[in-house]
Amino acid sequence: MKKILEVKNLRTYFHTFKGIVKAVDNISFDIYEGEILGVVGESGGGKSISGFSVIRLIDEPGKIESGEIFFNGQDLMKKSEKEMNQIRGKEISMVFQDPMTSLNPVYTIGKQMDEMLLLHGNLNKEQRKKRCIELLEAVGISNPESRLKSYPHQFSGGMRQRVVIAIALAANPKLIIADEPTTALDVTIQAQILRLMVDLVRKQGCSLMLITHDLAVVSEIADRINVMYCGKIVESGKSNVIINSQRHPYTEGLINSIPDMDREKNRLETIQGIVPNMFDLPKGCNFSPRCKYCKDICMEKEPELVEVEENHCVACHFPLRKEEK
Ligand SMILES: Nc1ncnc2c1ncn2[C@@H]1O[C@H](COP(=O)(O)OP(=O)(O)O)[C@@H](O)[C@H]1O
Ligand SMILES: [Mg+2]
Repeated sequence: MKKILEVKNLRTYFHTFKGIVKAVDNISFDIYEGEILGVVGESGGGKSISGFSVIRLIDEPGKIESGEIFFNGQDLMKKSEKEMNQIRGKEISMVFQDPMTSLNPVYTIGKQMDEMLLLHGNLNKEQRKKRCIELLEAVGISNPESRLKSYPHQFSGGMRQRVVIAIALAANPKLIIADEPTTALDVTIQAQILRLMVDLVRKQGCSLMLITHDLAVVSEIADRINVMYCGKIVESGKSNVIINSQRHPYTEGLINSIPDMDREKNRLETIQGIVPNMFDLPKGCNFSPRCKYCKDICMEKEPELVEVEENHCVACHFPLRKEEK
């Protein structure tokens, strides 16, 4: 399979008056064509900033310090802002948590969809209208033709996110980066909208980087999962491996805090302690102050991400073994 995205040794730091926040600290990962990569971890782990870095949407005081980003054979770090603008929306599109971030309240849905098609395609007016209707139909919006004339505020939150997904798919992108795409929505419709997005992504054969704090959400959808903690990838592997034979204590903690997932022990645990202050990270392993298996070396030396089995990487001095769980 072909890699659509290759990220190597990416570092994105924020230079604040209080000091440097290493929001993304030397991460490397790939996404293959047609693949869904889940990125999970607690808030502040660097998930969103890694997504924004891929499309180089990092504002001051943030900066991509170093690293390589190859997308579809192109070196994105070498692109001008103008070239990046061509890539954003057309080849890589984004879906954010709050649909109002992506929609303009003063234009109709039809105009915004049409704009997207106009910018990134060569359809004539009639063809674009037809495509807009098709897209709205695809995301399950009834009476699409008349809905084209509606404004964003005339839709419910869930319907708005459907429109955003339609716009994200409009230009047939090769990669969609979705950052907590359903977190702001009603719990009852979250699963429905996520399923819809995944179905459409699979149908169009595009790749998806699905960012969420909710491991339960990605476990059923993603092909592979990266677990992030304090700006680093601490474990990565195929979804079933991450869920059933995770080796990092942090991943184990995330799994144990999912209701229903921990059927063996039948009780819910939360990870002890809190995410450390990013200005004052612990010595050694970032997770050591919270880790129930912590040993001396963990407070001294930072563990590197190493491949423990094929396609399964863990950054831990003492990766869990099955019998320890
Ligand atoms: N504009 C900013 N200024 C300073 N620090 C920031 C800024 N944006 C993000 N960060 C920091 O970067 C880290 C990673 O953030 P983020 O990627 O948003 O985490 P996640 O999406 O996993 O919750 C956090 O510690 C956050 O405080
Ligand atoms: Mg985030």
